[in-house]
Amino acid sequence: MTLSDKLAPEAGRLRLGDELSVNRLGFGTMQLPGPGSFGPPDDHAGALAVLRRAVELGVNYLDTSDFYGPHVANDLIREALHPYPDDLVIGTKIGVVRDNWGDFVPAGAPDQLRRQVHENLRRLGRDRLELVYLRVGGDGLLRPGEVRFSESFAMMVRLREEGLIGDVGLSGVTLKQLDQARATIPIAAVQNRFHLLDRDCLDVLRRCTEESIAFVPYFPLGAGLLGARTGRSQLPFGPDFSAAQRRTVDGVADGHDATRAQVAIAWLLAYSPAILVIPGTSSVRHLEENMAAARLRLTPADRAALDALA
Ligand SMILES: NC(=O)c1ccc[n+]([C@@H]2O[C@H](COP(=O)([O-])OP(=O)(O)OC[C@H]3O[C@@H](n4cnc5c(N)ncnc54)[C@H](OP(=O)(O)O)[C@@H]3O)[C@@H](O)[C@H]2O)c1
Repeated sequence: MTLSDKLAPEAGRLRLGDELSVNRLGFGTMQLPGPGSFGPPDDHAGALAVLRRAVELGVNYLDTSDFYGPHVANDLIREALHPYPDDLVIGTKIGVVRDNWGDFVPAGAPDQLRRQVHENLRRLGRDRLELVYLRVGGDGLLRPGEVRFSESFAMMVRLREEGLIGDVGLSGVTLKQLDQARATIPIAAVQNRFHLLDRDCLDVLRRCTEESIAFVPYFPLGAGLLGARTGRSQLPFGPDFSAAQRRTVDGVADGHDATRAQVAIAWLLAYSPAILVIPGTSSVRHLEENMAAARLRLTPADRAALDALA
């Protein structure tokens, strides 16, 4: 393999809504701003290089938000990639803002959502956002907001009717919320937390698979826990990674001369054809390693061992 090859297409393609189609290995921009996704990156040129390399390797789905930085991830995307390649899809999220300390604060009132859409349009230099997720609180990562889901979602429908948004996605949702939303308009994608060690929202993934809705797991590498063998989660909470689980993952990795991160990504790609994987990194080396997971073919025995982990 040479790293100038386009690796992302080897993961296969997936439909996003009625009109879009992307490679199933994309890129998440949350690691590009400063620590905790707050403030500017330590290495501005390095962050631009990661984005450009991702596109060179065939990534045509970028997952972002104006609350990464805030504004920093979107500004970097524009600086690195504008004018954008024709096939590049940028999915963004609204429903959250950052406070002065960097905390993620729910902001799902209709007027807040409208402002966030306009800010994304302005920062990204687009006149329409192809895919926008409503980030709903209450999934353990973001506290529940005070605005009712139905009220926020009604605003998503209105923004779509006005043409500011193409496809609508949901993030951090329950199965009930997903079904409630689907009864009104088609949902193109769902972004919930799901990885080798955390399968709490399996019911939502199953519905997405049945209904051909893209499922975009956030924290595909367990927020770093499933990265290097010394990997640590960036979060103060989350699942344990026991010695027995580590042995299983490392055994599969060694069998393919692969890394833990590559096994975590390959497992997601194999788990459901609805899954679109968006590993985040601030490093070109890790990006290249993650993209090479598109070529890792797990055996049925590998998959059975990994399925049994959680
Ligand atoms: N909807 C939501 O609420 C939500 C929440 C979180 C994330 N997201 C989205 O999901 C994307 C992915 O999540 P994430 O970036 O937070 O977490 P992640 O992809 O699970 O893990 C990222 C962490 O793993 C490390 N890493 C990446 N590749 C590695 C490799 N090959 N070897 C060792 N370590 C590696 C990164 O550090 P380095 O920078 O050093 O590589 C970083 O610490 C985000 O970028 C964002 O787009 C959405």
